[in-house]
Amino acid sequence: MYDDNPTIKGLSKVIDETKQGQVFGENVLVEEIDKKKFYIESYGCAMNFADSEIVASILHKVGYTATREMEEADLILINTCSIREKAEATVRKRLRVFSKVKLKKKGSLIGVLGCMAERLKVKFLEEEKLVDLVVGPDSYRDLPNLIAGAEGGEKGVNVFLSREETYADISPMRLMSNGVNALISIMRGCDNMCSFCVVPYTRGRERSRNVYTIIAEAQDLFDKGFREVTLLGQNVDSYKWENPETKEVVSFAELLVLVANVNPLLRVRFSTSHPKDITDDVLYAIRDHHNICKYIHLPIQSGNSRILAKMNRTYDRPWYEEKVKRIYEVIPDCAISSDIITGFCSETEEEHQDTLDIIKWAKYSLCYMFFYSERPGTLAAKKYEDDVPLEVKKRRLQEVVDLHRLEGFEINAKDEGKVFEVLIEGNSKKSDDYFKGKTSQFKTVIFEKKGDYKPGDYVNVLIETSNNATLKGRIV
Ligand code: 5AD
Ligand code: SF4
Repeated sequence: MYDDNPTIKGLSKVIDETKQGQVFGENVLVEEIDKKKFYIESYGCAMNFADSEIVASILHKVGYTATREMEEADLILINTCSIREKAEATVRKRLRVFSKVKLKKKGSLIGVLGCMAERLKVKFLEEEKLVDLVVGPDSYRDLPNLIAGAEGGEKGVNVFLSREETYADISPMRLMSNGVNALISIMRGCDNMCSFCVVPYTRGRERSRNVYTIIAEAQDLFDKGFREVTLLGQNVDSYKWENPETKEVVSFAELLVLVANVNPLLRVRFSTSHPKDITDDVLYAIRDHHNICKYIHLPIQSGNSRILAKMNRTYDRPWYEEKVKRIYEVIPDCAISSDIITGFCSETEEEHQDTLDIIKWAKYSLCYMFFYSERPGTLAAKKYEDDVPLEVKKRRLQEVVDLHRLEGFEINAKDEGKVFEVLIEGNSKKSDDYFKGKTSQFKTVIFEKKGDYKPGDYVNVLIETSNNATLKGRIV
């Protein structure tokens, strides 16, 4: 799940299209005034947010504390996204702002992290003269060295992509936390090669993290009061970890169960699933464990088989439909969400209609919708002409958005009159008299406070009204 400009107040917002990048450091006390301070903004997918927590932990170990004020930072970092052109444009804009701050604070450094650093490499330093560090997603352990070099006036670049790095031993610093939800990275990279996607080039080959470190992280989070973890990877269903001593192999379905067994009060989510890789075993794990959430993010990208083939998604429309049917068969009350791209190379009006049609058919609870943005170096950029005019891409996107919005009202109305177990995440945005929380299906519920309930508690809520985005109800 990606966004060009996210905020992160609960996972749903990670992928909302909003204007602000997220500043980490809200809950961190600056303990020692004389310590060096870093400021970090994160853009893009949830994985980037998880990575920023790893970066924070690495910096903390070498004496840095986090600050929310970029003006007082010795080190300003931006964790970047390359998935669409717009994401990169946002980063460039932010760099203009950082540069002004840097010029006012002598000795301060600017570092670019993440996918855009990886994509542009040393070119970044040529294009952005005030940037001191360019560090790709697999090189964060090198940050202290690079910073030391930059303090001596030497620009630092490390964009080495690893086949092993999973940061398994690093305990992320939960800087942005609401104390209830946390992200756990379980794998890195992607081997899928969807033709439109830059991720395999910026995040490298797929590799899975040691299962014991994942369970230990989940246990630690639970002990600290967290009640929901989201297992993250570009393609979680291909998680596969081999114990180097016993040669035993742990699959994603097995990992899910192991994390679910940490405690029945710990909810487990995961993202993202590739339709070709999600197995029945994963569905059975969801069905059989109350705390594995009944929600699957299963991006289709396009509703048309010819376009899917060109996208190199390795499934066609009938195959995807079978997968959705199977999910509803095994887990009837499962919610499914999707990603959609409009205006991919050579897409016709009829093929676009197929995408509208699958939205109606699949009953997606959520949809993340984008118009196609050609990314340099991808298979599509090399092989196909980006020939759908921008205004057509945008018009098709608007049609998809409008349809999904309409469908959303209908889908959520079906929840009225039902009781859901809701994990309380905090106060509702509009009123402190109301809580907001999530159902297992990842739907946001707003309800009036009652009794001594607090964030992290589970309550049963009867849904009374709904719109396309939220459910409203009362504790029963
Ligand atoms: N243009 C538009 N959307 C893209 N995505 C990935 N690459 C592109 C691109 N070049 C979307 C896909 C993916 C989501 C994370 O971002 O829908 O699932
Ligand atoms: Fe990109 Fe496809 Fe990998 Fe997702 S599965 S990160 S869309 S290549």
